[in-house]
Amino acid sequence: MPNEISVCNLSFRYQDSTPYVLKDISLTVKKGEWLTILGPNGSGKSTLAKFFNALLIPLTGEVVSCGKNTVDSAEWSSIRRDVSMVFQNPDNQLVAPTVEDDVAFGLESAGIPYDEMHQRVKDCIQRLGLEGFEKTEPHNLSGGQKQRVALAGALALKPKVIVLDEATSMLDPQGRNEVLTIVRKLNKEDGVTIIAITHDVNEAIASDRVIVLNDGSIVYEGIPRELLANREILRANNLSSPFIVDVARELRKYQILIDENVLTHEELVNAICSYKRII
Ligand SMILES: Nc1ncnc2c1ncn2[C@@H]1O[C@H](COP(=O)(O)OP(=O)(O)O)[C@@H](O)[C@H]1O
Ligand SMILES: [Mg+2]
Repeated sequence: MPNEISVCNLSFRYQDSTPYVLKDISLTVKKGEWLTILGPNGSGKSTLAKFFNALLIPLTGEVVSCGKNTVDSAEWSSIRRDVSMVFQNPDNQLVAPTVEDDVAFGLESAGIPYDEMHQRVKDCIQRLGLEGFEKTEPHNLSGGQKQRVALAGALALKPKVIVLDEATSMLDPQGRNEVLTIVRKLNKEDGVTIIAITHDVNEAIASDRVIVLNDGSIVYEGIPRELLANREILRANNLSSPFIVDVARELRKYQILIDENVLTHEELVNAICSYKRII
């Protein structure tokens, strides 16, 4: 698969006199991949994300997004259409008086003709399970619904990449599940490349690959299953190990010997059920 995003030797600081926030970062994201970027607060995740869609431009190093070098200002609007961002706080992203106006907002700004805009809004509202909410005022929605409206607005622009910057961190467990289910669908069914930034290791489980950023450097890269089973790396980067991994570890202390690789609720339940069958 070709690279959708390619970052090469990127270093960055906000001001000349301040320390580097990104230090010689190189990474690639493949078309159709779902990458999780994990890291403690202040590690540089949001700063890095802003380079993906040319909100920040490299002075040292290079970023190529969807085949376009972000240093080329003539490509900025096209890059920002290709690489869509969804942020942490849904209330800061919804701007229009109704759900359908909000989903249409980016399309209007992009000058999409009315008929096509109408069709895309309808499709995206349906895709994100928001039918019946077209005329609802966004402030009357739950957190999960609001983030789904933000995602619908992003999706309406037909992006190649969606970057979610802590997009579930303000949501309750139900809202988080709603959004993660949709993200999985967009990735698997529509082939949208996903870059999910989070400090919650549980959210990495379903992704293809994970990168850990700490103090502006990439300190780990691998598959989520291996990272989540690695207590040393998690601890060194201030990441709590997933609840299910802790439960499995506690059970092992009581000689309930379930597999070390158990990571999800389903795997834990299966492991406990098959264990009972053996004894
Ligand atoms: N606009 C800014 N101006 C100056 N410093 C900033 C700005 N945004 C972030 N920083 C600093 O850059 C570092 C990385 O921040 P950020 O990229 O937001 O990390 P994260 O998203 O991992 O929490 C932090 O030390 C933060 O204070
Ligand atoms: Mg951040």
